Amino acid sequence: MVEHAPVLWFTGLSGAGKTTIAKEVQSNLLRQNVKAELLDGDEVRETLSSDLGFSKQDRDLQVNRIAFVANLLAKNGIVVLVSAISPYRDSRESAINSFARGFEIFVDAPLPVLEQRDTKGLYSRARLGEIKNLTGVDDPYEKPEFPALHLNTDGVQLFESVGEVLNLLIKECAVARG
Ligand code: ADX
Repeated sequence: MVEHAPVLWFTGLSGAGKTTIAKEVQSNLLRQNVKAELLDGDEVRETLSSDLGFSKQDRDLQVNRIAFVANLLAKNGIVVLVSAISPYRDSRESAINSFARGFEIFVDAPLPVLEQRDTKGLYSRARLGEIKNLTGVDDPYEKPEFPALHLNTDGVQLFESVGEVLNLLIKECAVARG
């Protein structure tokens, strides 16, 4: 029997740093010969979820699909890193509770900082009215109440955030060295 691997669920607004941190954690694990896969919201939307938009119903469906795939990987011993805004608490929590070992990681930075970073140009497009229902601007984001980790990425270096995640894996799951 393969032991269930942990699922780290990175949630937070666009541009907060979820995918950047998750990718770096994944590289670190792979270097230690720990199998790790990243399920990134943008990538899933280009493939499995290309039929979905940004209504609550569609976002919840996106979360459920990601959780389904994450479960398949985790039960085969692959550490899963999920990076998805997943703005609604109920669907996010039921996804995380569906894993044998699920951890919620809140990747957080103040909205003005995200608007300043504007990595994908989404915030300026939303302010110009070119995009509707952008999470954090004119669509809700329900913050985690009791995340396993709360990473504020404003003024914090990437290696520090990655270190916190690796420490969580070591402490909770005896996975990885840091
Ligand atoms: S979720 O809300 O369904 O969990 P997910 O992380 O999978 O979101 O996908 C969000 C990605 O879609 C963002 O990273 C962004 O690139 C893109 N996007 C386009 N329009 C929106 C929008 N209105 N709200 C949020 N993200 C959007």
